[in-house]
Amino acid sequence: MKMERDFHMMKGDNEFSYAKNSRVQKRAVLAAKAIVEKAVREVCIDLHPQSMVIADLGCSFGANTLLFISEVITTICEDHNNTNKESPMEIQFFLNDLPSNDFNHIFQSLEQLEQSTTQDCACKGLQPPLHFVAGLPGSFYTRLFPYNSVHLFHSSMSIMWLSQVPEHLDGSMNEGNIHIGVTTPPSVAKLYQNQFEKDFSRFLQMRCMEIVPGGRMVLTVAGRKSKEVFNAGGTTMIFELLSQGLRTLVAESRIAKEKLDSFNIPLYCPSADELKQLVQQCELLDISDIQLFEIDGNPMDDSEPAGTSVTQTAGQSMSASLRAAMESLISSHFGKCILEELFAVFACNFTSYIESDIEKSGITVITLYLQAKR
Ligand SMILES: C[S@@+](CC[C@H](N)C(=O)[O-])C[C@H]1O[C@@H](n2cnc3c(N)ncnc32)[C@H](O)[C@@H]1O
Repeated sequence: MKMERDFHMMKGDNEFSYAKNSRVQKRAVLAAKAIVEKAVREVCIDLHPQSMVIADLGCSFGANTLLFISEVITTICEDHNNTNKESPMEIQFFLNDLPSNDFNHIFQSLEQLEQSTTQDCACKGLQPPLHFVAGLPGSFYTRLFPYNSVHLFHSSMSIMWLSQVPEHLDGSMNEGNIHIGVTTPPSVAKLYQNQFEKDFSRFLQMRCMEIVPGGRMVLTVAGRKSKEVFNAGGTTMIFELLSQGLRTLVAESRIAKEKLDSFNIPLYCPSADELKQLVQQCELLDISDIQLFEIDGNPMDDSEPAGTSVTQTAGQSMSASLRAAMESLISSHFGKCILEELFAVFACNFTSYIESDIEKSGITVITLYLQAKR
């Protein structure tokens, strides 16, 4: 599988789509809201651009993409209308993702966004700033913008996705695991770490060329609290349960063991220290803030009623969330025919896990607030 060509969240609006299964990611956007607002205000005050250029990298589609845009519009609407009525600022949003992202879904939801932002601002007696939204396909591990042209970069729950399965991780080196699992050899964990270092350094290098001096970046990533690479809390647990599901299918001869042994998820959850170190190596960025949040990993809506089948519903809900993010990876490696059974087994495994006495961990999310040196 080639990430740049094939990887995408599940398109459209059906029950397995990312649009319907991205509540956990929404919690990450909400956790970083105050930092995003601060960054927008600081760009306005320090750089006072006539046209503010903002890029959301790994935007996907659905409510979370719109939530970020409306947070920015509301913040500027409140601040800018108050401070500078003569020359209202305009905003250019660039929404970036890999080419197979469902960009049409975003474009079709823009009208709804217009209505809600106009209403939100009107309630406060204000007018939203004039804004333009464009889609930008391409990998954020490449150059995406002209030199010195972006005031604010944002990315949420995207840059833990690597550009590829770690280099040199071949064959059955990670036998029985699909990520950094319990029996993963330390040498394999190191390959994951190396790939993240290489990718994230490249990401920062590219952005440093594109950002204006004094510009800001707010980068939220699924990470880990522990220094220990084998312990990324809830994320490690979810991949372990998915791996168990695949092993069940191997036991039933639905997939070959070699096929499982050669499947490795191209994702790495960094610690805050690892992120800090890589930013410092870049030398062109200052860290204004770094915050860790522990978000609830249960994808069920808080309003969903509790009942006897609540753990089963939670299992199905987690299964649909994971499928929305992972289906393209899994089907390109194993084929589409295992999807239904695999995610049904996963849902049962997840239900048993939440019914068990095992201590549950949430998903650790790290938000980096960076400023480009002048
Ligand atoms: C879990 S989604 C998060 C989306 C959205 N920001 C949110 O908060 O809901 C991760 C997104 O990152 C995108 N992505 C992964 N690698 C990428 C890359 N190299 N360049 C651009 N986008 C990438 C995926 O296609 C996916 O849409």
